[in-house]
Amino acid sequence: MTFNFDHTPVLSTESMKALMVRPGGRYVDGTIGGGGHAAMILSASAPNGWLGGCDRDGMAVEAASSHLAPYVGRWEIRQGAFETLVDWIAPESVDGVLLDLGVSSPQLDRPERGFSFAVTGPLDMRMDKRQELTAAQLVNTMGEEEMGKLIWEMGGEQKARRIARAIVREREISPLQTTGELAEVVERAVPRRGARRHPATRTFQALRMVVNDEKGALRRGLASTVNLLRSGGRLVTITFHGLEASIIKEFGDSAVKMEKPVLQWIRRKSLKPSPNELAANPRARSAQMRILCKI
Ligand SMILES: C[S@@+](CC[C@H](N)C(=O)[O-])C[C@H]1O[C@@H](n2cnc3c(N)ncnc32)[C@H](O)[C@@H]1O
Repeated sequence: MTFNFDHTPVLSTESMKALMVRPGGRYVDGTIGGGGHAAMILSASAPNGWLGGCDRDGMAVEAASSHLAPYVGRWEIRQGAFETLVDWIAPESVDGVLLDLGVSSPQLDRPERGFSFAVTGPLDMRMDKRQELTAAQLVNTMGEEEMGKLIWEMGGEQKARRIARAIVREREISPLQTTGELAEVVERAVPRRGARRHPATRTFQALRMVVNDEKGALRRGLASTVNLLRSGGRLVTITFHGLEASIIKEFGDSAVKMEKPVLQWIRRKSLKPSPNELAANPRARSAQMRILCKI
């Protein structure tokens, strides 16, 4: 089955420049999604460039494989987190690694994936459907205090304790099963009062990050993907919120400051989408690119 996988790659021209894609080069896309960036890499590295890619999401792997059919023979894609790339790609063998973090538009837009409050669906939020833990299990079993802490720390939600209390009260009546039910509970606890953002935005982000252990996966993934780069190779990251950006900056800063530094910053200050890109793709609004180079 092929899915309609509509995801516009963000900072696409900028990422090709940052990766310094050249004919015959070898690249890795650790978050292949629908294969938008990957297709650009394969096109710019023609006629004989190679790309290794992965995604935790089986639906993305399928969509990317079909999108990259014109370049067959020049790529290999496997399902898994990017920390597992080291299991099948040789150390110091690639010229550039791209990590375009977060979720894709199809993950957000397909109700059955349970990432979104805009379209109601089961409280799922798993990037990798083979994993057991779902958002429903989290919200229906976690202690109130722990949940409040998590919504505050991972979502930056100031009213986290009030939201956690409301969730626990509601689930005592009956377990929360859909994203719509959760969004409603949050909205009742912290009414919108004219705010542009839905009051459940930060709560949903926090839950998604915990269900997918996004911070842990990023920390482990950064440390391992650096080993894939040959000297002079580029590590290009695109982040969508402050927690991811801090992990990248901390990681880069400590690699730069080591006694024998492994990396150097090419660009630590974030590179953001142009006004033209933002007008065409509002979902790019919080994207920030950073570039490191292997010494
Ligand atoms: C913003 S999308 C990437 C879109 C892609 N660059 C494109 O052009 O279509 C992010 C993707 O990263 C995947 N992802 C997030 N964390 C991951 C991880 N630790 N390992 C592998 N894939 C991950 C998500 O499943 C999602 O498909």
